[in-house]
Amino acid sequence: MNAIEIKNLFKTYKNGTEAVRDVNLMVAKGDFFALLGANGAGKTTIISILIGLVNKTSGAVKIFGHDIDTEFDKAKRLIGVVPQEFNFNMFEKVQDIVATQAGFFGIDRANAVNNSEEVLKKVGLWEKRISMARTLSGGMKRRLMIARALVHKPKVLILDEPTAGVDVQLRFGMWDYLRELNAKGVTILLTTHYLEEVQQMCRNAAIIKEGNIICLDSVRNLNKLITQETYVIAVKKMQSLSGIEVYKPIKVDEYTLEVDLNRDEQLNGLLIKLINNGFDITDVHPKGQRLERLFLSLL
Ligand SMILES: Nc1ncnc2c1ncn2[C@@H]1O[C@H](COP(=O)(O)OP(=O)(O)OP(=O)(O)O)[C@@H](O)[C@H]1O
Ligand SMILES: [Mg+2]
Repeated sequence: MNAIEIKNLFKTYKNGTEAVRDVNLMVAKGDFFALLGANGAGKTTIISILIGLVNKTSGAVKIFGHDIDTEFDKAKRLIGVVPQEFNFNMFEKVQDIVATQAGFFGIDRANAVNNSEEVLKKVGLWEKRISMARTLSGGMKRRLMIARALVHKPKVLILDEPTAGVDVQLRFGMWDYLRELNAKGVTILLTTHYLEEVQQMCRNAAIIKEGNIICLDSVRNLNKLITQETYVIAVKKMQSLSGIEVYKPIKVDEYTLEVDLNRDEQLNGLLIKLINNGFDITDVHPKGQRLERLFLSLL
């Protein structure tokens, strides 16, 4: 069963912008899927169509088999959405924000309060339940958005750039939390500009360019398309590069070298060569921009 099925989707806005052009996309139940693309590629438009905020021009969308044209209410109940911008009432109390949302899905007050307790505990905001939303930190506000999206127990969680403008620490925390939700069976679709996010969390990804999907594959396969990796090598003290010139090393500073290796070249060979040339290596790690390069080459 597919959680999300998008067939021949088109969207042309009133001003003539063709934001989505013949998108076909299946997100399997339990998947962790990323929609990647540059600014204006059409990511938010697709999400907005899924949740009924934007009317499609043509095409078909199904959520767990429910067509959004004929069974919109059923489809909508299955979706939790975390928009990019905070859009709750800053002067409302945390638990009220979450419980009220449950009410929009027809959940009675007692259950709404129960569910809100459950999700607030899950996101670590239970202690803040009677605080006014505006007194939360940025990271807490983001978690509140997620709690609100989960209060009606959706089967698909859709997040539009969940970590935009979020600090590194918080981002890692969110990754853990989203992974945990996914492991519990929630299908996740997110949009992001951060390729690292995709590599760390997602199983499958589609790259969108000008409203078109130009690449759709498993993250593992996308990674394979990249033939080079940059390694960052930390050394105690810089030595002459003359003995390792075949590797075309780049001296970043007195303690750091960067070297590109092709897929078939061995890191060990490079390290041995460095040691033989008097380098005292203190750390080696991949620069982690492999998908980034592929992405840029496709755009
Ligand atoms: N309400 C609207 N009216 C007219 N054009 C719109 C509207 N919303 C979006 N667009 C246009 O549709 C295209 C796709 O926009 P969309 O917001 O879907 O992109 P995005 O991939 O989410 O970009 P970003 O990464 O910047 O959030 C853009 O050219 C945008 O200007
Ligand atoms: Mg967007």
